[in-house]
Amino acid sequence: MITLGIETSCDETAAAVVQGGRDVLSSVILSQVELHRPYGGVVPEIASRQHSEMLPGVIDRALTDAGVGWDRIDHVAVTYGPGLASALLVGLAAAKGLAFRLGKPLVAVNHLQAHIYSPFMSPDAPEPDAVGPFMALVVSGGHTCLVRCETLGAYELVGETIDDAAGEAFDKGANLLGLGYPGGPVLDRIAKRGDPKAIEFPRGRVKSVRAVHGGLNPEVCFSYSGVKTALLYHLREHPLSGAEDARLPDVVASYQEAIVDTIIDRCTLAMDGVETLCVGGGVSLNSRLRFKLQELATAAGFRLLLAKPAYCADNAAMIAGLAAMGGGMRGSAAQSTDVVPALSVCVN
Ligand code: KG4
Ligand code: ZN
Repeated sequence: MITLGIETSCDETAAAVVQGGRDVLSSVILSQVELHRPYGGVVPEIASRQHSEMLPGVIDRALTDAGVGWDRIDHVAVTYGPGLASALLVGLAAAKGLAFRLGKPLVAVNHLQAHIYSPFMSPDAPEPDAVGPFMALVVSGGHTCLVRCETLGAYELVGETIDDAAGEAFDKGANLLGLGYPGGPVLDRIAKRGDPKAIEFPRGRVKSVRAVHGGLNPEVCFSYSGVKTALLYHLREHPLSGAEDARLPDVVASYQEAIVDTIIDRCTLAMDGVETLCVGGGVSLNSRLRFKLQELATAAGFRLLLAKPAYCADNAAMIAGLAAMGGGMRGSAAQSTDVVPALSVCVN
């Protein structure tokens, strides 16, 4: 079973060819970050136009890299939400056309469910149905949530952010520090030279959740607006002279520690009654987060499955992989669906 996966939910134009659920024959990711950098964030119109121009070439490359022709594709999988409407539209329209032209089934995949599946794509990871109920942490630029999975395909939202996503906290913090976009990788690198205990930034507790997050336990929800404001006030009181300022690494390491500690705290609470934690999304590339999750897993005695770096940030391999495992919407429902920009993690 060979799946062609397509992903255009944000600012990566991606296509992949995957055999079965995890044998990745090719994974092509064309980042648009240079185009969005001058604006300090993703501009939807630019993302959409760039997807339209680049997707055909990216799909061609994925087939060439995999060494397979069109005749070997058994089905076409594509992200239909959540994400930027105009960006999602490009991938979904292309996938619908391709599936129709090839006479192969279309699978419309939930991007968040694909991030949840991504840790299972390592060759040494167990099969999803061999781990029993598990907790999934998705930490990205657009989402931060904890999802309990009875099995792959049965999702229950346990906690989510009530304001910014963890990746936004990194990106907005880097913006305040004048370190450019995207902030995560830069802060990760600078923090290695700093003392995470130098400055005590707030750990963003959530006291109550509004109706939109109804039913969720506030103790396993996330909030990052406070830490960002605390950084702003800190910089007003202690202005830095620029990227070369000797105090920068301590500020960055302390700021990163506050974000990471919040995630560790929520995972500690959420791991009640499950024995495996799966972690994916762009922020799961963060070296401090990976270290502290490993430390927590060892201390608390649960199994930690971290996505391989190649599958942490947005990619099409995880879309194809999940479709091959039976995930996503199929048949006429897939062919007739529109994009769903605010798709909930629990909806297939
Ligand atoms: O999963 P992703 O590629 O896109 C979304 O679905 O949002 O995640 C992008 C986010 C950005 O906010 C970026 O700053 C963050 O992941 N990121 C990191 C690191 N690498 C990427 N955050 C912290 N540390 C990193 N090393
Ligand atoms: Zn993502």
